[in-house]
Amino acid sequence: MKIRNPIIRMFNVTKRFGKKNILNKINLEVNSGEFVLVSGPSGAGKTTLMKMLYLGEKVSLGQIIVDGMNLARISKEKTPYLRRKFGVIFQDFKLIPNRTVYENVALVLEARHEKPTFIRKKVMEVLKITGMDTRINSFPLSLSGGEQQRVAVARALVGDPAIILADEPTGSLDNDAANIILDFLLQYHNKGATIFIASHNMELIKNKIKYRNLYLNNGVLEDNKIVNT
Ligand SMILES: Nc1ncnc2c1ncn2[C@@H]1O[C@H](COP(=O)(O)OP(=O)(O)OP(=O)(O)O)[C@@H](O)[C@H]1O
Ligand SMILES: [Mg+2]
Repeated sequence: MKIRNPIIRMFNVTKRFGKKNILNKINLEVNSGEFVLVSGPSGAGKTTLMKMLYLGEKVSLGQIIVDGMNLARISKEKTPYLRRKFGVIFQDFKLIPNRTVYENVALVLEARHEKPTFIRKKVMEVLKITGMDTRINSFPLSLSGGEQQRVAVARALVGDPAIILADEPTGSLDNDAANIILDFLLQYHNKGATIFIASHNMELIKNKIKYRNLYLNNGVLEDNKIVNT
């Protein structure tokens, strides 16, 4: 029998903005090491669902447990510990404009007080894989949208997170660049990371992997379990 090891659990999670229920009594269990795709129309709440996992948004009702931590009860001291579990590729990248490419990625490890030699090695490693190692001294606003996205991916992965939240991670990329990023996420998946991708459209991933397909619409989450078997 397969041992279930849920790393994310949501119980009757409702999210309201004003009077509108964006998410309505969502129940979800994601096991450690799963590859999950959340699709659904624009405005359905995919980004909001992800944000709630790392306390980027509060739930209105219900409960979320991440790796045994109840987010409603987590103390201020423990919040950084929760956030470290996640590598987040933000839909709008959220790069710091007055820091270079190298500095944007290095910040993650500097905040953890890692050794400078380790930081240099890890940062260059992820920038090389995302193809941005030749632009380490550039500032984000001098990069194209696709290049900024690749820096955002490098930053999400540099800390070897247990859970990768990727919000439209290939939205600004052409097919070749998108394939490189998806293959990179797959490498992390193969190393055991839980991957949670939000996207309108994941044609590119269909031939690469069996994934769990969640569909969000009108506040309801449909779980189509594993597709592409
Ligand atoms: N901070 C906020 N305050 C008020 N309304 C919000 C806020 N954040 C999101 N919303 C609303 O919640 C709904 C869901 O937004 P969300 O960004 O989660 O959708 P999405 O599925 O990620 O859409 P997209 O595919 O366009 O990225 C939208 O109607 C949005 O306007
Ligand atoms: Mg979104």
